[in-house]
Amino acid sequence: MKTIVVFASGGGSNFQSIYRNTLSGNIEDTAISLLISNNPKSGSILFAKEKNIDTFILNANRYPNNDEYNKALIEKLNEVNPELIVLAGYMKLIPSDITSIYEKKIINIHPGKLPDFGGKGFYGMNVHRAVIDRGVKNTAVTIHYVNEEYDKGMIIHEEKITIKKDDTAESLAKRVLSVEHEIYPKVINKLLNN
Ligand code: GAR
Repeated sequence: MKTIVVFASGGGSNFQSIYRNTLSGNIEDTAISLLISNNPKSGSILFAKEKNIDTFILNANRYPNNDEYNKALIEKLNEVNPELIVLAGYMKLIPSDITSIYEKKIINIHPGKLPDFGGKGFYGMNVHRAVIDRGVKNTAVTIHYVNEEYDKGMIIHEEKITIKKDDTAESLAKRVLSVEHEIYPKVINKLLNN
């Protein structure tokens, strides 16, 4: 059985979708062994507790400096020794100490095209607002490896989504999220089982 660690900050719908797909076997022979969040109020923590998945809350204020913070995170990840680390709506930068250890073993899902709609400040609704403001014809769900810079790692998969005439940032967000729920488990399974 392969193990994955999921990082989430917000509602956690991608985390829930990944979990369901491990149970159904769409993500074959894999279990989520740990959920890490920087947000004690994240829906993902409640869900993980309900499903008896271990949780770890990363509160930067609890550590005297960045080195100690990084060390705590590295220790936690080493305990699990995951096959893959999956960022699912995680809004903090992963420290370079960790991206260098887990090179090509950390992936992220981004709700827009990269590099055009990525980088610092481009997350969640900000991405969809920028897409509508710029009047582009399509957007995308992008899955990429994670390196030490926001949204800069190698792209693994881009799923294009056509923008409708009457789309708003909100309607687009909904459609993009449902594509994420469909695509992310498929890509995770491919990476783990191909
Ligand atoms: C998702 O749309 C994800 O792509 C986005 O946050 C949302 C999280 O939803 N991630 C980013 O913007 C990362 N830069 P969820 O908590 O319901 O999975």
